[in-house]
This record gives sequence, C-alpha cells and structure tokens, in this order.
Amino acid sequence: MDKEKILKEAEEFAYQKMEKYDSGHDFWHTERVRKLGKFINSVEQIADPFLLELASILHDAADSKFNVEDNNRFAAMEEFLNNKGLHDLKQRITQVIANVSFSNKKRSGNLNDPVLMVLQDADRLDAIGAIGIARAFNYGGFRNNPIYDPAAPGGSGPSTIGHFYEKLLKLKGLMNTATGRRMAEERHLILERFLEQFFREWNFEELK
Ligand code: ADP
Ligand code: NI
Repeated sequence: MDKEKILKEAEEFAYQKMEKYDSGHDFWHTERVRKLGKFINSVEQIADPFLLELASILHDAADSKFNVEDNNRFAAMEEFLNNKGLHDLKQRITQVIANVSFSNKKRSGNLNDPVLMVLQDADRLDAIGAIGIARAFNYGGFRNNPIYDPAAPGGSGPSTIGHFYEKLLKLKGLMNTATGRRMAEERHLILERFLEQFFREWNFEELK
C-alpha cells in the first residue's frame, strides 16, 4: 500500500466534496486540523500516524450540515476507501469521522479510538481562538444569521454570539488529550476577551 499516494488521492476526493461548503470549511481548515492533530499526536503518541492523517483529510468530506439531502452521506467515501483497497479500515474511519462532530448526538462505536481522540481535539481547537472566531462569523454570514440577538441574551438562537455560548465556550472542557487541553486554554481566553470587548462596545460602555 502506497500511503503517500492514498493521502494525495484522499486530498483530491475531500477537496472536491468540500467545494460547496462555506469557506471556514475549506482546504485551510483541513490543513490546520491535519497539522494540529499531527502535533498533538507527536506529544501523546497514541494514534497510528497514517490513519490519523487519512481521517484528518476526510473528516469534513461528508459533513451533515452540507449533505442534508444525502441519506447515506458516507457512500462516496466508502467507495473511495474500497477503491484504494482499504476495505478493512473503512468502517473504522467512517465511524471516527461520524463521531468527530460536536453536533452528532447519535454516537456509536469506539468512542475511545485514539484516532478519534486526537482528530476531535484538533478539530475543536480550530473552532476556538482567533481562527475559531473568524470561522464562526464566516459561517454565520454564510447562513445570513444575525451577529447577535439581544432578545436571547448570552444564549440560544441562531446568532453567532449565541453560538459561542451554545458551543464554543464549552469546547475547552471537552478536550480528550492533555496536549489538546493545554492548547485550548489560551484559545479559550481569546474567546472570553473577545466577548468582553464585544459587549463593552455593544452596550456603549466606552461612552460612559
Ligand atoms: P462540528 O463538525 O464539530 O459539529 P461544526 O461543523 O458545527 O462543528 O462547526 C464547524 C465550524 O462552523 C466551527 O468553526 C463552528 O464554530 C462554525 N459553526 C457551526 N455552527 C455555527 C453557527 N450556528 N453559528 C456560527 N458558527 C457556526
Ligand atoms: Ni472540521
């Protein structure tokens, strides 16, 4: 099995699938997740490096947010993996990818798979910190959601500030690995500082 060749072809497969996504889920997101995962694993040494890289490249190629009409969103990925002779790894990889998503409430399979633990931490790190803030507003703009809805203060509703409370501020406490947790600390502080300033400006505190 030529691992380099498989990774190259996985890139082509994934980027073609992701063309219709918002630009916060683009080539660069995948690259960042790949690098962050590689770094976490270089410290933790828990996951098979090839499987981690392959799963990182493919992790958003069947995202449920962008494949809502697709009742078997993994079919194309399974076919890709079969064609590469990876029948034996197919189930494990698609299961890891199905479990990575924060929004997936129907988890199944091995939730302690080390590939999942590292990949999920990497994906979560990219949703917080300065890049996480940029991606959240990018996604909110893509959906034409309001920036903030004062009728639902500090909370629910489709506003992007609401999304911070629904998801982003929780991610630090959900990290799987010690390295991921350590990296999440700094990025979490950036979210808090941003929100503090956002509300300062929103409430015209500067004018008081
Ligand atoms: P996951 O795949 O872990 O469920 P998502 O795909 O929901 O994560 O999130 C991917 C990116 O899109 C993140 O940066 C996240 O903050 C952003 N995002 C998702 N839903 C929203 C939303 N309702 N408002 C703003 N950003 C969002
Ligand atoms: Ni992702």
